[in-house]
Amino acid sequence: MSLPEQGLDASAIASRLADLRADDPPVHGGRVLAYVYDAGMPEATNAALDALAGFGEVNALDPTTFPSVARLENDLVGWGLDMMRAAADAVGLVSSGGTESCILAVLAARERWAAAHPDGRPVLVMADTVHSAFHKAAHLLGFDVRTIPVDRASFCLTGESVRRALDELGGRAALVVASAPSYAHGVVDDVPGIAAAALEHGILCHVDSCIGGVTLAYARLNGEAVPPMDFTVPGVSSISLDLHKYGFAPKGVSLLLFADAAYRMGTYFAFSAWPGYPVVNTTLQSTKSAGPMAAAWAMAQALGDSGYRTAVRDARAATLRIVAAIDQIPGIGVVARPDTTLIAIAAGPDRSVDPFRLADAMRARGWSLQPQPSCADLPRTLHLTVQPVSLATVGQFTADLAAAADEVRDMPWIDASQDLEGAFANLPDLTSGNGLPDEMAGVHALIDALPPEVRDPALLAIFSTLFTARR
Ligand SMILES: Cc1ncc(COP(=O)(O)O)c(C=O)c1O
Repeated sequence: MSLPEQGLDASAIASRLADLRADDPPVHGGRVLAYVYDAGMPEATNAALDALAGFGEVNALDPTTFPSVARLENDLVGWGLDMMRAAADAVGLVSSGGTESCILAVLAARERWAAAHPDGRPVLVMADTVHSAFHKAAHLLGFDVRTIPVDRASFCLTGESVRRALDELGGRAALVVASAPSYAHGVVDDVPGIAAAALEHGILCHVDSCIGGVTLAYARLNGEAVPPMDFTVPGVSSISLDLHKYGFAPKGVSLLLFADAAYRMGTYFAFSAWPGYPVVNTTLQSTKSAGPMAAAWAMAQALGDSGYRTAVRDARAATLRIVAAIDQIPGIGVVARPDTTLIAIAAGPDRSVDPFRLADAMRARGWSLQPQPSCADLPRTLHLTVQPVSLATVGQFTADLAAAADEVRDMPWIDASQDLEGAFANLPDLTSGNGLPDEMAGVHALIDALPPEVRDPALLAIFSTLFTARR
């Protein structure tokens, strides 16, 4: 960017920014079924966006200078503890997002483990379907990882398999993670069995409910039978719950809740042996905007309990209608019955529909579903984050899904494994500024075909072409 010699006025800036957004998909309306969460309540969204702007310049680094920061954080944590039915002495913190909450949960476990084990590397025990945030945490914080396959019929991590792994690991395991639910398949793990195994071995158990916390809490209040996953389950020591997902807040806000205040202390950092101001950080960031937490607070106030109950009821109703429709479409099926509002679509046993081709055919009809490549024996799938607003579009969506499946049924699967070099050579130019091409099946098939050890380096190489800025 070269700066204009004379600064632009507000309307010129708004129009330039609108141009920059021109190729982005819409964040409202339910056509994009990943990354975005639309409660379908525009007045509440506007209240949240006003709060985001109003608090954007408040520095949440220092709640002694800006007391509003502690008030907002305490209110949000209190709400989260209530949703997760914590005991009176439970505590929490607000972070910038799910990944930061997961990393902080792992950090807290490392501090506790290291106090008792001065030597050696701790082990993080988790399902092969766990969110990648925990692999990132292990990478950053010096953990070895023990991944356990989920049950291949239910896609659930069982307590029994965790118990066996903990028996084998002896004292090396520091933390076990259960998902509620898993992002990829939308299944809540066997939290009671996993937490019981952790208790028996004297280690911590984190429940990753980043994406499901709000929906599970309000589905329960709506009278649905939800799988046990909160602090009423003995042995659950921490829970992550994102407000920028089904809390419907703008991006940048998540909760990390702890059954025990001593455990939270492991995430805090203080340093005063330098000549500047004494630093006390409750998260990875230091200077940070109070905007996202003010926005989450505003959203919660604008929706109220009844707003969340309605939002979750609508999203669940839409989810169940979509599943019922998928059950009727030949060649595809759901990987598992959704425990919340996430659906994974896979090919049926006859493999007549390639999920990646289906994604392109849906894209041509104006819907964005998220391709998930195969992983060891887990098949390629399409992920759907179903939202409250989806209830209004469910008829059109399911009609389009049936038509898209008809269009691609019996077409050969896109398979790049025979000609990886050719597939690389045909990659679209992601730097062209024209957005993604209409047909992405080839790109996903290439990722799918790459051997595991080259997948991540290849993804990094492709991604880095997007960031080309030079002086
Ligand atoms: C279960 C789960 N954990 C962690 C995360 C990471 O959250 P974020 O993308 O906010 O960092 C996600 C994101 O979808 C998730 O679904």
